[in-house]
Amino acid sequence: MARKPGMDRSDLFNINAGIVKNLVSSCADNCPKALIGIITNPVNTTVAIAAEVLKKKGVYNPTRLFGVTTLDVIRSSTFVAEIYGKDPRDINVPVIGGHSGITILPLLSQSGFEFSQDDADIMTKRIQNAGTEVVEAKAGGGSATLSMGQAAAKFGLSLVRALNGEKDVVECTYVEGSGDLARFFAQPVLLGKNGVEKILDYGSLSEFEQNTLNEALDTLRSDIKIGEEFLK
Ligand code: 2OP
Repeated sequence: MARKPGMDRSDLFNINAGIVKNLVSSCADNCPKALIGIITNPVNTTVAIAAEVLKKKGVYNPTRLFGVTTLDVIRSSTFVAEIYGKDPRDINVPVIGGHSGITILPLLSQSGFEFSQDDADIMTKRIQNAGTEVVEAKAGGGSATLSMGQAAAKFGLSLVRALNGEKDVVECTYVEGSGDLARFFAQPVLLGKNGVEKILDYGSLSEFEQNTLNEALDTLRSDIKIGEEFLK
């Protein structure tokens, strides 16, 4: 179920939570070792639901569960490329946090281009709001589909490359890690034959990025809690 104008990703919770629960429950029964990428919104919450379902079934392995946040990375490189007249494939902007509103944090300070504080603010908001921009443009016809398809394909193919033994496959994705900031957190992850090979350090943040992250953490943690409580 996709958003309609005026809806936030969290408004999809009541419908999509049950769908994710059922699908992941079937995965637990039929392919407990699968690498599972959750792209169903609200991703910040549905990944927590998936984890709890797998845990209840006794097959949860945090290295095999991913929230697909690749569309935020695609949008970031596309928008930065538009400004500088570059090919988006040559641009890498890590995106950390989650996949909703203020929890989407593009690290423009690591893009290789200079952004003034004002420009970073405008660009960050544009990236955070890009999904909503599509929802509004479609005026009731749903949300992003082709670009989500591109994101799913990019992430899925990266997993396949890693499963095939390719080294150095890195994607930003929403996974359970140290829990220092939140139980699930999107950041660059080295992928390997077992899914998460290593959660990579996301490097240093500009002051603007650090402040934005601090402001987003409560929302992210509460999105996660809603997912955990759904199963109870
Ligand atoms: C988006 O960001 C649908 O959440 C998706 O466009």
